[in-house]
Amino acid sequence: KGEGKFIVGGNWKCNGTTESIAQLISDLNAGTITKDLEVVCAPPFVYLAQTQASLGPPFEIAAQNVWTGAGGAYTGEISADMIKDLGINWTITGHSERRALCGESNEIVAEKTAYALSLGLKVIVCIGESLEERQNGSTLAVCCAQLKAVAEVVSDWSNIVIAYEPIWAIGTGVVATPEQAQETHAGIRKWLAAAVSPEVASKMRIQYGGSVNAGNCDVLAQQDDIDGFLVGGASLQGDSFITICNSA
Ligand code: G3P
Repeated sequence: KGEGKFIVGGNWKCNGTTESIAQLISDLNAGTITKDLEVVCAPPFVYLAQTQASLGPPFEIAAQNVWTGAGGAYTGEISADMIKDLGINWTITGHSERRALCGESNEIVAEKTAYALSLGLKVIVCIGESLEERQNGSTLAVCCAQLKAVAEVVSDWSNIVIAYEPIWAIGTGVVATPEQAQETHAGIRKWLAAAVSPEVASKMRIQYGGSVNAGNCDVLAQQDDIDGFLVGGASLQGDSFITICNSA
């Protein structure tokens, strides 16, 4: 395990209305979290203020994405400075949906990560392979190339959490087996030890993401190198998400 608390993220993606988000927040606030862990919820940008105004501790809030650098003439973008200005301490970067649908390369993700870190934000950096890449045996090569781009522009990894999300497991109901997840997490930690430092490797928290639900979280949480989860679909259901938090 990495050092520090188990950490669960809820990535609400592009879902919700003012009304459904109010309901979700009220369900989360009413839930009983029995474990000492970190929990971070990432609403769509337009609902950040609503979420901030009503979601109580232990829940913290994250942006789902940020621009690569400071603001300016970037129509439709949100800068990390704005996230910080709102008093939000976290952002996600490099989600596979942004890599695939918005053309974010390893370098762009690394740049976003470095800029957000430079402002003092904590960053959940997402990595993961496609089904084809898993089948042709390049899972670790893909994940490590994604991290290598980060290593080229970041020297202090203390505010980074890595989320390993195999693309074939995201939103599909096909969860990685505990063995598959553990093997990849261990490989990522080994790569960090060799390419960054043994200290960063032993401290790093590595989340698993991809079809995590209330039924499969316990066995995954028991794996040696799984230090948390990044949850999509099940994070939109208050009771499921609380159960996942309590698997810590
Ligand atoms: O970022 C979380 C995510 O991509 C996993 O989504 O719906 O498979 O839990 P889901």
